[in-house]
Amino acid sequence: EKSAGTAFLVSKGNHRHFMEKEIHEQPEVISHTLANYLDFSKGTVRSNAAPVDFARIDRIAASACGTAYYAGLIGKYWFEHIARLPVDIDVASEFRYREMPLSKDSLALFVSQSGETADTLASLRYCKQQGLTIGSVVNVRESTMARESDTIFPTLAGPEVGVASTKAFTCQLSVLASLAVIAGKMRGTISEDDERRLVHELSEIPRYATQALKLEQQIEAISRDLSQVKHALYLGRGTSFPLALEGALKLKEISYIHAEGYAAGELKHGPIALIDESMPVIVIAPYDHWFEKTVSNMQEVAARGGKIILITDERGAAASTLKTMHTVILPDMPEIITPIIYALPIQMLAYYTAVFMGTDVDQPRNLAKSVTVE
Ligand code: AGP
Repeated sequence: EKSAGTAFLVSKGNHRHFMEKEIHEQPEVISHTLANYLDFSKGTVRSNAAPVDFARIDRIAASACGTAYYAGLIGKYWFEHIARLPVDIDVASEFRYREMPLSKDSLALFVSQSGETADTLASLRYCKQQGLTIGSVVNVRESTMARESDTIFPTLAGPEVGVASTKAFTCQLSVLASLAVIAGKMRGTISEDDERRLVHELSEIPRYATQALKLEQQIEAISRDLSQVKHALYLGRGTSFPLALEGALKLKEISYIHAEGYAAGELKHGPIALIDESMPVIVIAPYDHWFEKTVSNMQEVAARGGKIILITDERGAAASTLKTMHTVILPDMPEIITPIIYALPIQMLAYYTAVFMGTDVDQPRNLAKSVTVE
């Protein structure tokens, strides 16, 4: 009955696409994933979930591909900010050929939904050869990468069928945020109070994710506009910068609209030449300490007739005097969880745009769910 069970697991339920179903599964599967690393009732981390001595590690050398790489970019902020642990991260297809100097005191960390991606697997084998401890954040426990790792940090997203990664991405982020808190505790860079506060904030992710999904109708309406354009630019700062990259990837891989993600601060170093009324700019800007700077970047866009779709929160909406084409308002929330919650509107934006475009949302042209060739 395993196959019958599996067949049940990968049914679309009452959704049109696997991707839509998987977007809506996120509050539940993120909660399962977090519970593996955090003891919600005690307000502490489960250190046994990460059998790695982070106090002994001098650096994390990380690599991944596509959406998993963007999860790693966000994880870098958390490891460096919470655990003061430097992270060197590169896309796997570049990582291996860079032959970066590696020390045995570094942790090699790989992020992969399938655990079969050839570029990432090749990087894992390269680091293993250099004698590093290998850790993998994977969604498939019996995958090749899981088998070849010293330590597995599982995401418990369940089977992800849609080629465009959604629930695996937010579960990868949940694991990386939890590991950053565990590493901070082991390295003594956070106090017990910090640990309790951070565990509490992470435990709130499923609740905020449920609220974010309620924006679906508004986002569907915005996607109707977006499906008419030929190009789009995504902007973000800090942990919203990798989200801008992820948002652009989601849009291009399922709707085939050309989209680019950029660091908001880089706009004036070139991309602003692109701005005109035919190219919408999606700005990911929670009211965090980067907000004011990002708003000034938006002023430049608006002054050139750029159409802005602002994704922010109550405080951001109140603080921004900017005229936008659309403003999506999420609830105010703790800063550490914004990258995970803000992933949901950008996933829905890409999903509904692709639905309007009539593309094959679950199996976009030229793409495979796991790229097992280099
Ligand atoms: C994400 O939407 C894409 N399907 C793709 O970028 C994917 O994230 C990448 O190929 C990595 O796959 P993996 O997580 O299975 O290693």
